[in-house]
Amino acid sequence: MSHDEPVTADLSARREGRVVRTFFALALPEAHREGLARAIAELRSRPDGDAVRWVRPVNAHLTLRFLGNVEADAVPELVERARQGLEGAVAATVVKIGEPFPFPSAQRPRVVALPATPEEPLTRLAEALEEVAVASGLAPERRGFRAHITLGRLRGRRLPDLDAVVVDPSELPVREVTLYRSDLHRDGARYEPLVKLPLGRAADERSPQLSTEKD
Ligand code: 2AM
Repeated sequence: MSHDEPVTADLSARREGRVVRTFFALALPEAHREGLARAIAELRSRPDGDAVRWVRPVNAHLTLRFLGNVEADAVPELVERARQGLEGAVAATVVKIGEPFPFPSAQRPRVVALPATPEEPLTRLAEALEEVAVASGLAPERRGFRAHITLGRLRGRRLPDLDAVVVDPSELPVREVTLYRSDLHRDGARYEPLVKLPLGRAADERSPQLSTEKD
């Protein structure tokens, strides 16, 4: 098949460590991962709970920009661009995690996900990272950004009842962006945080001296 060649070349480059599969995301604190594990256990126990391949809570995250394969040599420059791009893009904030819903739509669900609101600061982060990705020579993302945390992927069309499952804690602090490396294995993907990039402090957290400084 004609597409075999690049895929094979891609794989061997990955095995040799010349390229890494990467993405930018918000990592979830331990308490949130435990909350997700409880929500997943509840959903799994419902009728058709086995119709979804649930994520391992340790792997759960909120993707801001999937990058795919990046030359390993290009990663330090990408990280530096991201550090600069995120500076001032969005101050640290808090978003609220909502209840499970079929994503991207109830008509054609692919995954069970959790929404995060307000979406606007996350969209700004995604936009800043989009600029970083394109400036680093990666192809522009065609799909519009929609903030979600994937809980599981549908095996077919069936879905368990998603009603009345609350994830606790629901307030998610947004203080830094993590660049992850993703390694695909037979038993699922493994994610390894490579770098954490801090966001600016919120205006009300800045020191009083700074805020009274004259221009
Ligand atoms: P998803 O959860 O909505 O599927 C790591 O693979 C993360 O990057 C996943 O959370 C996945 O989002 C996201 N992602 C976005 N585009 C992707 C792609 N083309 N291939 C794999 N993952 C992608």
